[in-house]
Parts: sequence; structure tokens; C-alpha cells
Amino acid sequence: MSKLIVNGGSPLRGALRVQGAKNSVLPILASAYLTNGESVLHNCPELSDVQAACRILRMLGCHTEITGGTIRVLPDGAAGTFIPAADMCEMRSSIIFLGAILARTGTARLSAPGGCDLGPRPIDLHLYALRRMGAVIRETQGQLVCSAPDGLCGAVIHFPSVSVGATENALIAAVTARGCTRIRNAAREPEIVDLAAYLQKCGARIYGAGTPELYVEGVPRLRGAEHTVLPDRIGTATYLTAAAVTGGDVTLYHTEAQLLMPVLHSLHRAGCEIECGDRQIHLTAPCRLRAMGEIFTAPYPDFPTDAQALLMAAASVASGETRFTDTVFPHRFRHVAPLCAMGACITVKNDEATVRGVEHLHGASVQATDLRGGAALVIAGLAAHGTTTISRVCHIDRGYEHIETALAQLGADITRKAEHPGRDC
Ligand code: EPZ
Repeated sequence: MSKLIVNGGSPLRGALRVQGAKNSVLPILASAYLTNGESVLHNCPELSDVQAACRILRMLGCHTEITGGTIRVLPDGAAGTFIPAADMCEMRSSIIFLGAILARTGTARLSAPGGCDLGPRPIDLHLYALRRMGAVIRETQGQLVCSAPDGLCGAVIHFPSVSVGATENALIAAVTARGCTRIRNAAREPEIVDLAAYLQKCGARIYGAGTPELYVEGVPRLRGAEHTVLPDRIGTATYLTAAAVTGGDVTLYHTEAQLLMPVLHSLHRAGCEIECGDRQIHLTAPCRLRAMGEIFTAPYPDFPTDAQALLMAAASVASGETRFTDTVFPHRFRHVAPLCAMGACITVKNDEATVRGVEHLHGASVQATDLRGGAALVIAGLAAHGTTTISRVCHIDRGYEHIETALAQLGADITRKAEHPGRDC
């Protein structure tokens, strides 16, 4: 087990390179199972979720090699069809392998991913899309037993609601299906665009990525490709918000402002000066943030649900009231209790959280509840008076590359303290 020890009060200053996007590299790794020939992926973040995805690829018969931020995947000869329950639980998003396994082998067996700390994590939209393409899927004793005896066929898929993962699964399944596929009400996240860009380099014929309608012409096979993963927009939001709550002045490079405009608008509304340059963002924070009014999360290009907890930490010490409504994960408020334990004044009613900013938070011993909730506690600790100890750091390590090293590079007083060996989640 390990803990993060944060001593608040230091304004963050300096420059930091933003890591590659977790939510882009994971579906790209899954889709690499579809190809034949080596893929070389650059700007991959060193995360436990990425390690887990590479473990699954090796279990399926691929050769993988991780060297710093570059991952090589060689799926030639791989024919695995099964993902053990332990690996499905380890990484909730491993459902994203289903389309690739079915498309490559015509059969797949994996356990339904468990819920997680954001509330129920259904997969009905994933299964709907694959069934539309001819998959036969039985859900029995917590397992998904899937087959596509005649291979997958192109289809019209119209999602009743937007789902990033289901769009990715449908896209991955469609690229080598027989015939054409139209995916309507598709997610438009930049990570979808990045996945499509990689698959196009592999020979896929995809049109409309980043729009609500994707059109795919199936091709018989895909080659490997070299690709650089896009910057992590939520990682960018995290470090900008950390600078904002500490009265800091930071420049983040190797990132794109266009990826997170709603977050930049909210930070500007809170009184930060933000300059966007060529693949970099410079933020200068005021002595004290102003409240940000109403923040509604929604699918891209609106305010990202993954940044809700981060901005809530900032709102906790802003002057005035900020109201958050999470329309994507209505129960994504498990970070409220530990923030309140640090002195925040937050009330939750249904899918809405109202934050009345306080002069300052105080340090406390708190537990990370999930990936972004944990990051929010780190941000709160940086702003608080005194020392904050954050346990269950494994949640944070799923999505942030050495978070304490990155923040310490900006002048934060933060250290990791190893405790008992073994899993701490
Ligand atoms: C992806 O999760 C991201 N994860 C999440 O980031 C992100 O919060 C989410 O998209 C929304 O942007 C990865 O990309 C690995 P969804 P995903 O399917 O695909 C409901 C982080 O912190 N739904 O877009 O699982 C679902 O319950 C993580 O980096 C169904 O009802 O999210 C939710 O309410 C957390 N049925 C909504 O759709 C389904 O079959 C959006 O979920 C699938 C989803």
C-alpha cells in the first residue's frame, strides 16, 4: 500500500509536459488485436491501466514490449478468446476488448465488468451494437459468452444515448466486418478521433470520426501502424486546476487547448488568466478563485464528467457558490465526503452538488474513492492549510503517471510513502 503526503500552501510554478491520454491508448491497444504486423505506439503513459491492457494482449497471444512511453504490439498468430474475471475487474474498461476479440476470432468469453465507484457501469449499449452486427451473446453466471459464427456484418447502429466505450467497441468491430456500418449518435470525444486515426493508418476505412455519425467500410484485414497517442486532456485539466487553487503560474506543454475548452472557460471564469500557444497552455491564477456558477457535464464537446471532481475541489475554496450537475454519471459524487472532511461546504441532492466556497480547507487523512476523485483530493490538499494524507493511491495511479513527481516538479510539497506491500485497492 502507499499513501500520498501533501503539505498545502505552495503556489505551483514552472512548466510540465502532459502525459499521453489514458482513454485513448486503452482502446487503441485493444484494437491492435485486430491487426497483423507490428504496431508501435508513442506517447503512451506509464499507468497501471496500460500495464493491465498489455497483460490482456499477452494473454490473448500477442507479444508486447513497453520501453518508456513506447509500446510495441505484435499480434501475429494470436488467437486468444478469453479474458479471466480478475483481469476484467482489474480494469473496468477491458470490455473494450470484446469487439476486437470477436472480430479477430469469431468467439469471445469474458466476465461482465463489475460496477465501479462511479455507480453502475452497464454494457447494454456495447452488446446492442455487437448483436446488430451478428454477434450471438449469452450472459450466463456473470460471464459473457459471445460468438459470431459467420463473422461480423456491417449494420446500422443507432445508439439511444451517447457512450464512449460502446462507440469504440462498435467502431473496432466494424472495421473488418463484411460490408458497411453506420454508427449514429456516436460519441465525439477526441479519443474516438485518435482511435480512428490509428485504425486508418492500419488500413481501415472510417469516415466522420468526431461527428455524431460514423461510417465504416469493412476491409478484409488490417496491418500494424506507428502512431503517437494524443495528449491527456483530463491530465491537463488536473495540473491546471492544481495551479489555479494554489495561486500558481504554470505552463503545460505537449497538450492542446482545443481538447478541453469548457474546462478552460470555467477556470477563466474563476479568475485565471489563460494563454493558449502552439501545443501549450499557460495559466496564471488569482490570489483567490471566484465561484464558477453552474457547471453541467455532458458528452464532448461539452464539459467533461472526468473534470467534475477536479473543478469541485477548486470551487471548494473559491469565493461564492458553484453548482455541479453530472448528466453523464449522476452519482459521481463520492469525492464529496472526503472534501467535506477537509472543511469543504458541499451539499448533494440527486445529480446536483452545491459548493459554497470557504476561505481555506484544512489537511486531513482521506481515502481516494476513484481515479478523478482521488486527483481532486490531491488538488484540495495542495490548497489546504496543513498536511493531507491520501490513501488508496492505486486509484490515482490508474490514470496519472507518477502524479507526485509531476506536481513536485511544479514546486508542490508532495511525497509518496510506501506502507504495506501488496495491493492497496
Ligand atoms: C469513458 O468511460 C471513459 N473511460 C471515462 O473516463 C469517462 O468518464 C466516460 O467515457 C465518459 O466520458 C475510458 O475511456 C476508459 P460511457 P465509458 O460509456 O466508456 C452509460 C476516467 O476517469 N452507459 O461514455 O465507460 C453509463 O452508465 C474514466 O478516465 C450505458 O447506459 O463511459 C454512463 O452513464 C471514468 N450503457 C454513460 O452511458 C452502456 O452500455 C456514459 O458512459 C454504456 C454506458
